[in-house]
Amino acid sequence: MKILITGGNGQLALALDRRLSREGSGHTVVRLDRSGLNIASRAACLQVFDECRPDVVLNCAAYTAVDRAESDRDAAFAINADGAGFVAEAASAVNAVAVHFSTDYVFDGSATRPYVESDPCAPLGVYGASKLAGEQAVFAANPSAIVLRLSWVYSNDGANFYKTMLRLAAERPELRVVADQLGIPNFTGDIADAVAAMFALDKKTLQEQSGIYHLSSRGITNWHAFASEIVDRANLPSPPTVTAIATSDYPTPARRPAMSAMDGSRFEAAFGWRFGPWQHGLDRCLAERIRSA
Ligand SMILES: NC(=O)c1ccc[n+]([C@@H]2O[C@H](COP(=O)([O-])OP(=O)(O)OC[C@H]3O[C@@H](n4cnc5c(N)ncnc54)[C@H](OP(=O)(O)O)[C@@H]3O)[C@@H](O)[C@H]2O)c1
Repeated sequence: MKILITGGNGQLALALDRRLSREGSGHTVVRLDRSGLNIASRAACLQVFDECRPDVVLNCAAYTAVDRAESDRDAAFAINADGAGFVAEAASAVNAVAVHFSTDYVFDGSATRPYVESDPCAPLGVYGASKLAGEQAVFAANPSAIVLRLSWVYSNDGANFYKTMLRLAAERPELRVVADQLGIPNFTGDIADAVAAMFALDKKTLQEQSGIYHLSSRGITNWHAFASEIVDRANLPSPPTVTAIATSDYPTPARRPAMSAMDGSRFEAAFGWRFGPWQHGLDRCLAERIRSA
């Protein structure tokens, strides 16, 4: 398949490219960063898809600065809502399968078990609201699209919680991390493997599987426990103490859901996949870090 990846410099885009370009995969990957395709431009989307003629688009382009979005609403919606719709429309115009990525932050965090796809959405902040509007724009423009919701994404690329913890762990004797927000961390390498498994299906069958799916490793944790695992498993020369704090001790512009774990069973059933525990992803990510050091 010819696979177009947007938002090409982002952490997920890089992992998807590495996974799907592997020798023997049978795929051709075209990865475009913002200078190659600004998804906020409908004309640019239509033109690039017309020239590229992909079989599939993986739309990784997004406004992901959760706190900044609170004071930058128009930009967040221009990219996460309008732009998402333009990509889905352009995919439809060339009969490409549109795969779009969304977020656990579409939920308000009041659930007492992992969220399933049919649970009601009620985002707490602008970022989540813009991503929810994006899901709606995607299906309005392209009813055969696939939306994959992700949570707590991390990798050795770009900026993310895991990298921040490793950096601070080398600088400080103590890390203070919130312990009252529950969720599931997901390594981009694990996400890329799950996405690659989808392409065992042909284009027509993929389009018949349209809808929303939660793509997530198993097991629930919290940011403090995740930080502790990162510090423990990274074999640091002088590991810091990791202290649990409450969300109220660490005020941020955007409110975040207190519980945003998602259940990946629907994805597993549709695409013949089995998610592993999130700790396996952390081990893979740390092993990759050592290999590339
Ligand atoms: N990170 C998480 O924890 C998380 C959690 C749940 C869901 N997700 C979703 O997963 C997807 C991938 O996220 P990620 O973690 O890979 O984010 P990321 O590392 O921030 O990458 C996003 C990329 O999108 C690009 N971009 C922004 N505006 C664009 C535009 N108008 N046109 C083209 N490209 C544009 C950015 O480029 P610039 O560098 O030029 O701005 C950046 O390279 C997103 O849909 C995100 O909402 C992420």
